[in-house]
Amino acid sequence: MLVLGIETSCDETGIALYDGKQNKIIFECLYSQANKHSLYGGVVPELAARDHVNKFLPLLKKGFKDSGLSLKAIDAIAYTKGPGLRGPLMVGASFAKSLGFALNKPVIDVHHMEAHLLMAKYDDPNLSYPFLTLLVSGGHTILAKVDKSGSYKILGQTIDDAVGEAFDKTAKMLGLKYPGGPEIEKRSIQGKSMDYNFPRPIINSDDYNFSFSGLKTAVLYKVNSLKKKEKLSEESISNVCYEFQNAAIDCLLHKTKKALKDFDLTQVVLSGGVAANKELRRRFSEELGTGCSSIYPDFSHCTDNGAMIAFTGFEKFNLSKEDNRIFVNPRWSLEEIANG
Ligand code: KG4
Ligand code: ZN
Repeated sequence: MLVLGIETSCDETGIALYDGKQNKIIFECLYSQANKHSLYGGVVPELAARDHVNKFLPLLKKGFKDSGLSLKAIDAIAYTKGPGLRGPLMVGASFAKSLGFALNKPVIDVHHMEAHLLMAKYDDPNLSYPFLTLLVSGGHTILAKVDKSGSYKILGQTIDDAVGEAFDKTAKMLGLKYPGGPEIEKRSIQGKSMDYNFPRPIINSDDYNFSFSGLKTAVLYKVNSLKKKEKLSEESISNVCYEFQNAAIDCLLHKTKKALKDFDLTQVVLSGGVAANKELRRRFSEELGTGCSSIYPDFSHCTDNGAMIAFTGFEKFNLSKEDNRIFVNPRWSLEEIANG
């Protein structure tokens, strides 16, 4: 069974074809608009939506041409219904519904964060339920217990900024380009500990929530005070990156360890763009504690992509209902998947 996956929730146009029978991705095409949004220091929703419209058909044609398959060979179409930016979501939903109508094939709506987490199952088929998941992206920071596919209990989440957003905003303060996560990761390698005492907000609270806005503000004060003394040197930028990244990882690691212990779980699946961070992966693999392991999708499947939507669409195929309306859900909670 061939499922076409369409991802347009933010600034990546992702299209992929997944073969459920062989458990194999036949092709995946990705177009990132990051350079375009870099000029503005973050994603401009209207520009993102327009670019999805322009890039969708050329990408789709390329995927099918390279694979030698015909569009008629597909059995279903899966698309991201939410959460995400409304305009960009509407573009993907419209293409998906139109293709479904033209080809007379079922259309499956997919939850973007569920797709992030289930993709770990594609890249590691031995993953077994139950497990904990830490979803870390530009819009979300969620700790959830996963009993089976489709059954998610949110244990905690950010009460202000998402961790990816904190990476992006910190990078912006330091004059680094968007998206900030990969830039901060690169600069941290050259940085060193400076005893800046950046806060780890709510790290000791008796819950599984996160908070990153205080950390971001502390970075702002530090950057301003460094600028007062001298022009912000390359060395200082790297040191701020190092200290910020350490503080953010400390918060993620601490609450994950607490949840693993309290819920008697031994595996945590990390996914979403921030899970591509190598220092985060290193610290999770070294510091989770004996008997506990961390599992990730491949690096290319942590950030937004069409393959995760195609794979999740296949998993959800039997749950899809005939519905010709084009309806997206920009604020869809992981716990409300059954209600759409
Ligand atoms: O999952 P994703 O591609 O899109 C959303 O669903 O939001 O995540 C994007 C976020 C951005 O904030 C980006 O800066 C961050 O993931 N990110 C990283 C890294 N790669 C992407 N953060 C830290 N380290 C990275 N290597
Ligand atoms: Zn995402």
